[in-house]
Amino acid sequence: MSAARSILLCLAMSSLAALTATAEAQPPASIETIVQFHTICSNCHEGECSGRLSFDSGAAAARSHIERYLGTTNDVRVAALFAMLRQVKETCGHYPAVPIRQATGTWEAAELAPWHNALAGAYFVPLGPLAMGRRQLRLEFDGAAEGSARIDDDHMETAADERLCGDTAKTVEFDATANARYFLHLKAGEAVLRRISFR
Ligand code: HEC
Repeated sequence: MSAARSILLCLAMSSLAALTATAEAQPPASIETIVQFHTICSNCHEGECSGRLSFDSGAAAARSHIERYLGTTNDVRVAALFAMLRQVKETCGHYPAVPIRQATGTWEAAELAPWHNALAGAYFVPLGPLAMGRRQLRLEFDGAAEGSARIDDDHMETAADERLCGDTAKTVEFDATANARYFLHLKAGEAVLRRISFR
């Protein structure tokens, strides 16, 4: 093979690899749908690991059930939510969600806003991997937060669970392990996150 041809072939292969990597890294569902799933559907479907769905007829059959909680929605969203529940049941793990950025320093209100479901008074925030050892997340709100702040890992094992009783700030502490990814499930009522600081 000529040098030019092998270079072309390499280029083609690496762009294919890049495409595949993107497809794997970026879940098909939008952030809004992922947040709806974790702030509404999870209230009843949290940690279901039964291995399979019983709605044989698929997403269409689940539509009226889903619309009871979300109001009228579209096929794309119903299919995405259905796929999410299937993935959770089959893998007994989290649906992949890409964190805002590396969990160090501070994440500000504007970055956190897409991960908020204001109607449900709840946030779902993928935190990603954290440095191993004792970690602290300081949550600051614009007012009194009523609810709870729970952190779990990719296998949906709870690492921390704190009540929020009118708190305007709360520090959540837990031991982070290597190779785990973490997720914040926050019920804050009317309160809006001002920032999350990582320590
Ligand atoms: C108030 C509780 C509740 C909420 C909220 C809820 N569900 Fe359900 N859902 C159930 C129950 C109960 C069943 C029937 C038993 C089962 O399969 O878990 C069910 C069944 C399903 C099924 C069929 C499961 C199967 O095995 O075939 C799907 C799909 C589903 N729900 C999706 C959703 C989605 C998506 C949301 C969020 C928009 C949602 N549900 C919100 C309670 C709830």
